[in-house]
Amino acid sequence: MSQLKEFSFRYEIFESETELSEIEQTLISKAKAINEKAYAPYSNFLVSSCLYLANGEFVEGVNQENAAYPSGLCAERVALFRAGVQFPDVVIEKILIMARHREVLWKHISPCGACRQVMLEFENKQGRAIEVLLYMGEHIVKIFSVQDLLPFVFSKDNLLIK
Ligand code: THU
Repeated sequence: MSQLKEFSFRYEIFESETELSEIEQTLISKAKAINEKAYAPYSNFLVSSCLYLANGEFVEGVNQENAAYPSGLCAERVALFRAGVQFPDVVIEKILIMARHREVLWKHISPCGACRQVMLEFENKQGRAIEVLLYMGEHIVKIFSVQDLLPFVFSKDNLLIK
């Protein structure tokens, strides 16, 4: 007999930056400040990301494009891999993402599938949820755990090699 299943999750929408914690407001200001460093000459879509770590450090990333298009990397993964090198054993508490297309702040940012996969690897490794904050300009969306963004993930449990 077949079974119908359902997946749903809670997330929070903030109407203004002022509703966020001081740390979250700092994530926004750091992501805004670093945004112009994005290297996006092909898409003109400048993405910046900032992490907040349990040791109080902030780690930023911006997208890095390449003439051989698939060789580029998203802002989120640049920040995460940087943290993986600089602070390999420190828990990542939050990641904020924002984007601009040319001069216009982009109000529909959402992490791509590959970044969700990488974020979830970090979340699973540390055994603690990473909050994802999407800065949309007029409002901010908070997702409480990366696993909400990637049901049916392929993770180490799906590998044959244990
Ligand atoms: N990009 C990111 O950096 N993060 C995202 O979440 C979405 C897409 C980058 C990749 C590419 O450099 C440009 O945005 C257009 O897709």
